[in-house]
Amino acid sequence: SKGDYRHFMLKEIFEQPKVINAALEGRLGEHSVLAESFGPDAQALLANTRQIHIIACGTSYHAGLVARYWLERYAGVPVQVEVASEFRYRHPVVPEGTLFVTLSQSGETADTLAALRFAKRLGYIGSLAICNVPGSSLVRESDLALMTRAGPEIGVASTKAFTTQLVALMLLTLALDKTLGKDARDSDGTKHADIVAALKTLPDICRQVLALDADIEALSQAFAEKHHALFLGRGAHFPIALEGALKLKEISYIHAEGYPAGELKHGPLALVDSEMPVISVAPNDDLLGKLKSNLQEVRARGGQLFVFADENVGIDDTEDDVCVLHLPHVHEALAPLLYTLPLQLLSYHVAVLKGTDVDQPRNLAKSVTVE
Ligand code: F6R
Repeated sequence: SKGDYRHFMLKEIFEQPKVINAALEGRLGEHSVLAESFGPDAQALLANTRQIHIIACGTSYHAGLVARYWLERYAGVPVQVEVASEFRYRHPVVPEGTLFVTLSQSGETADTLAALRFAKRLGYIGSLAICNVPGSSLVRESDLALMTRAGPEIGVASTKAFTTQLVALMLLTLALDKTLGKDARDSDGTKHADIVAALKTLPDICRQVLALDADIEALSQAFAEKHHALFLGRGAHFPIALEGALKLKEISYIHAEGYPAGELKHGPLALVDSEMPVISVAPNDDLLGKLKSNLQEVRARGGQLFVFADENVGIDDTEDDVCVLHLPHVHEALAPLLYTLPLQLLSYHVAVLKGTDVDQPRNLAKSVTVE
């Protein structure tokens, strides 16, 4: 039941602190991930993993794109990510020691399942499904499974399934880092143990972000009459921009695109005028300076800017044409997870204002079992 919530989507957005906690439960030791989390057969497979191919559709694909940044940076493992409907009709070349990873909320998505069956003929060392439904076809047919534990997701627009997939993918990153023994730190000295500590505080930080709901609702007014929106992000937040755009288009029917902020001047800047709201996420990371200058380019063209920014980065709305909402500080590695939440709430409130069927958007099904 929806309880006190007006829609399942809103209920599921607010469940995220709880289900993120569930996704972590029993899987973290004091300073590192517990390798047993992946099942008894996992250790051998992870130890032989030299690269990873991730296959998924829609929102799950966006989780895979975030994971590429994590796996390469924090575990030193090369990664390719592709949508299932493209992968399964290519003639992929599979390097030795490649692990095949599928991401799916339902575990029944036809293209993802077909991609797994196709992959079995291609010489992968094995398969891992990161999935929300125990006993689903994807889980049954994969060598290993890591359950996301988000609980039933009823709203067609995926929310808590996505953030728990990200948690699972960070656990995979840490497990590979530990198993492959790459000295437990990336080139900048980020310690595995620091990410583990940050994961433990994540549910609480998510609660603080969800408390911004009324501010985000107020901000959504600016979108109700708009026909287009542009979402910008850099690095691991580029996929978060893609996901923000997907949420807005699928439930509010506003045309939205996600772009890597650095690509702005290679085309989409031509679209920017006073009718084009531009939404950006600005966590405190090493790309902040670059992002700030991209946002200046938008302002110079008269675009209306909405920025979700770390409270410490010095982006404030001192100007009329910039609207800033501050988020609490979070470890850089986990920022993509946190910055997803305000974008979910934004699309939700815009859809409610527009009066669309939030939980059952037109033309879409919860589980896409036909290709
Ligand atoms: C978007 C959405 C879809 C699904 C996609 C894959 O909000 O829900 O894009 O993410 O259909 O579904 P699963 O994850 O069940 O394979």
